[in-house]
Amino acid sequence: QKRKILVAGNWKMNGNLALIDSMSQTFATQDFKHVDVVVCPPAVYLSSFNEPDFAIGAQNVSHLDGGAYTGEVSISMLSELPVKYVIVGHSERREYFNESNELIAEKVYKILECGLTPIFCIGESEQIRESGKLFGFLAEQLDAVINRIGIQAFNQLIVAYEPIWAIGTGKTATPEQAQEVHHFIREHLAGHDANTASGVRILYGGSVNAASASALFSQPDVDGGLVGGASLKPTEFVNICLAAE
Ligand code: G3H
Repeated sequence: QKRKILVAGNWKMNGNLALIDSMSQTFATQDFKHVDVVVCPPAVYLSSFNEPDFAIGAQNVSHLDGGAYTGEVSISMLSELPVKYVIVGHSERREYFNESNELIAEKVYKILECGLTPIFCIGESEQIRESGKLFGFLAEQLDAVINRIGIQAFNQLIVAYEPIWAIGTGKTATPEQAQEVHHFIREHLAGHDANTASGVRILYGGSVNAASASALFSQPDVDGGLVGGASLKPTEFVNICLAAE
């Protein structure tokens, strides 16, 4: 039985109140039955939506509980807002903010402890792919969470596979490339628990657009998408969601 498709839009550090309005208006005319839709705006806008047609996700959270940590936002603060999902381990946070596998596993732990759903991102650079170390590299990223929390973490979270070479480049992975890696991820998890592996949703991210979405989403192990640039264009984002209906 195929898992329900989920499409999440990650605005990154983009958008404004006007985009919130136009996104809400565009979605108001839609009624998605077979796809879960999530919008992840910058933190300051997490309470600005009044839209029953999609859920809201944060793009980041602190691994700390609270205190004198200027600029940080805790998971208990997010849980007081209408926030259901939290993106964690995005390659931009790994690269520009030096987030390690261990720090990310700690954040996943905090998110789960608070009852929110992590969208846990993994993915390789072009250099790693070309050096033949792809699967070992991805296994290490997955194992950080398994070692910290246990395989049962994957009953509650969503995995997003985002090859770094495909992010913001217009160079989407082919459906076959995505399927190959998604299958590897599921097999790796199945080595710990087969039921967990067959239930976990694995999203693909990296230059997904309205033209590429349906071929990607129809792969057996691709359960939706994490969409960056195209999620800033309301009509295109709706069309990506429609590709999953
Ligand atoms: O979180 C989203 C991804 O990084 C993909 O971004 O669709 O702009 O390539 P993109």
